Amino acid sequence: MRTIIEPFRIKMTEALPITTRENREERLKAAHYNVFLLDAEDITIDLLTDSGTGAMSDRQWAALMMGDESYAGSRSWRRFEKTIRDITGFKHIFPTHQGRAAERILAATRLKPGDIVPNNSHFDTTRANIEYVGATALDLPSPKAGDIHAETRFKGDIDLAALERVIARERKAIPFCMITATNNTGGGQPVSLGNIRAAKALLAKRGIPLVLDACRFAENAYFIKLWEEGYADHSLIDIAREMFSLCDGATMSAKKDGLANIGGFFACNDDRWAEDFRNLLILMEGFPTYGGLAGRDLEAIAVGLEEALEEEYQRYRHATVDYLASRLIARGVPIVRPAGGHAVFIDAAGFCPHLSAKDFPGVGLTAALYLEGGVRGVELGSVMFGRRAEDGTETPAPRELVRLAFPRRVYTQSHFDYVIEAIENVFRERAAIPPFRIVRQAPFLRHFTAHFAPG
Ligand code: F0G
Repeated sequence: MRTIIEPFRIKMTEALPITTRENREERLKAAHYNVFLLDAEDITIDLLTDSGTGAMSDRQWAALMMGDESYAGSRSWRRFEKTIRDITGFKHIFPTHQGRAAERILAATRLKPGDIVPNNSHFDTTRANIEYVGATALDLPSPKAGDIHAETRFKGDIDLAALERVIARERKAIPFCMITATNNTGGGQPVSLGNIRAAKALLAKRGIPLVLDACRFAENAYFIKLWEEGYADHSLIDIAREMFSLCDGATMSAKKDGLANIGGFFACNDDRWAEDFRNLLILMEGFPTYGGLAGRDLEAIAVGLEEALEEEYQRYRHATVDYLASRLIARGVPIVRPAGGHAVFIDAAGFCPHLSAKDFPGVGLTAALYLEGGVRGVELGSVMFGRRAEDGTETPAPRELVRLAFPRRVYTQSHFDYVIEAIENVFRERAAIPPFRIVRQAPFLRHFTAHFAPG
């Protein structure tokens, strides 16, 4: 059969809010044109994030009922630990309430002011946690990622030549290096095993540990199976094991490839790292056998991690992203190519050639999509990644993207047909998308709370 179907049927439904344009205009204005400030009940198709927004399976709901809520040493903890050890092979495993808690504690225990952490591309919370302790988060994306429209494979790779130069120059300032798989901010692009292996070899020569930001490790493993020579016959779990075996530790948000609504973990091999992490975990999250989670969450994550590695699931997941991407390409809408593992990224600068980076085209496009069809995407451009100096001068981000992220197992093909129609309509009238300016912002992660105004 050529048709790739959802490898599940639907047992419970959730009504979608259907709103009018008039209503959306009023809501968006009240939210200061920041879609993070909208009420979810005013959104029809929510593609803000793939984080914590997935649908759990009947197996996960059943596991939830088995949650052991004992404070210490619960059965659910054992199951969680066993599953993660089986996939990652790491010696020490610590639950956290989500990915950023793992990042926060890792940064607090391993970094000091002046340190440098290279990464293919840091996610915003990773960057913020590193900068919060006075260290530098250094992005080293592969030169392949430079041309966002080229159909090049493994654009998520880290730039090995640049990494080698940084190590030669700054060895003492680099407590660890990271690789983010898939590379979310770089368009959900995967990292090849060859690249992780080569990076590890460079780092190992100088004794620098490698930490995987493993949020979307299963989606990354599927790309390796499809694209990397010699892996077509490997199971996803074997590919994942190989990815983790090249690393010394991992931070994870179980809200992505854990197929759970909340949760995360940190894992590592080094006893000293583990000791320091454990001490702060108890202070900030909870006892080490539950972290910031309930026993039932640990159960749901254990099942979710296994389901994320099912090949039928990944085949369907990648087919849905490809479905939206290929139809946008056919309509001439500029997007990051190839399609990412968890999202389609629209090139807002290419979409709105009449706007420059200082006009925040991603904000304009995000607003237009909401007004057109109640579709919520998110700006990944100069609001999220731009820099604002003390005197107010803005340094724009390298790209102006709008991400349409795919919640896992939530929307069907007709929902995506609806999204395609909304984008098509906005694209036809794109010259009418106005410039936006920021009227209020926070010093960190400003995109979450900023207020915007058109004009
Ligand atoms: N690393 C990556 C690559 C991420 O994409 C995220 C979250 C995190 C770390 C932090 O995990 O949310 O559990 O604290 N990304 C979400 C997103 C929020 O929408 O891309 P968290």
